[in-house]
Amino acid sequence: MSFSMIYGTAWKKERTQFLVTLALEKGFVAIDTANQPKHYTEPLVGESLAQFLKKGHSRDKFFIQTKFTSVDGQDHRTPYDRNATISVQVEQSIESSLKQLHSDYVDSYLLHGPYNHPRLGDEDWEVWTALERVYRSGKAKKIGVSNVTPFQLTELLERATVKPTVVQNRCFAQTGWDFHVRKICQSNGIMYQGFSLLTANPFVMEFPEVIEMAKQHNATLAQIVFSFSRQIGMIPLTGTTDPEHMDEDLKSVHITLNSSELEFILHCALEQ
Ligand SMILES: NC(=O)c1ccc[n+]([C@@H]2O[C@H](COP(=O)([O-])OP(=O)(O)OC[C@H]3O[C@@H](n4cnc5c(N)ncnc54)[C@H](OP(=O)(O)O)[C@@H]3O)[C@@H](O)[C@H]2O)c1
Repeated sequence: MSFSMIYGTAWKKERTQFLVTLALEKGFVAIDTANQPKHYTEPLVGESLAQFLKKGHSRDKFFIQTKFTSVDGQDHRTPYDRNATISVQVEQSIESSLKQLHSDYVDSYLLHGPYNHPRLGDEDWEVWTALERVYRSGKAKKIGVSNVTPFQLTELLERATVKPTVVQNRCFAQTGWDFHVRKICQSNGIMYQGFSLLTANPFVMEFPEVIEMAKQHNATLAQIVFSFSRQIGMIPLTGTTDPEHMDEDLKSVHITLNSSELEFILHCALEQ
């Protein structure tokens, strides 16, 4: 299945069900969450999906993604036994996610972030092996990793038995919009998902050239950034809480920037 944008569900707390339902009604088919109560309310994502599917929509038309978050990324509401081995934590976390999401599989299951920096360490290989088991069991159609550096992704591709097919990273214009990780993804057929496209790069939308592009395309500045991100190979995430922004973000798929516009946005931060 294909989709042009992912609806992110972080930080919505008790408004999660209402906002996910609105996003589904607006036409989003890809939803991102995590089994991390500190930032995501996965049970309310599941309620929204269950209610929506009851209206006659088929599960296979939706891309549902969640994440395994290590103990360090959790608060006191850790959704698995903190004292268990990492392998058991992953087993418990995916079971809890599937229950919360009212589904017997997720389309994509991500490691929220590697344990070790700058290289991968023992915990990362243990967690990845556990994710591979989740993949082989059919409980996740794809497995991947978030918040990953080019070096870590290369290591994972070299040594993993089941290679990652999804990456989700924060995208800073100053790094050429995560240039090195995007290149690795392009060469290895990995779906690259970009987040914080607007919030990490507000200055991009202040360039007179970018303001002029928005005028020329009869688009908003946010739409220009989302279109740009797609045209350089990303699938953008949005976590908007505004119904009009949901429409705008989805419609940005119809905007096509020309090569000099793309070049400008790609390099504007590097020339500052
Ligand atoms: N893997 C990770 O570690 C990680 C970390 C952070 C986020 N994420 C995922 O990424 C998702 C998105 O997070 P994000 O960091 O990109 O930020 P975000 O939650 O999407 O926030 C973006 C900001 O942009 C605004 N916005 C959205 N569309 C707009 C539009 N068309 N015009 C103007 N403003 C617009 C929103 O305001 P309005 O609400 O007013 O529209 C909001 O203030 C999260 O929900 C989560 O699923 C993952």
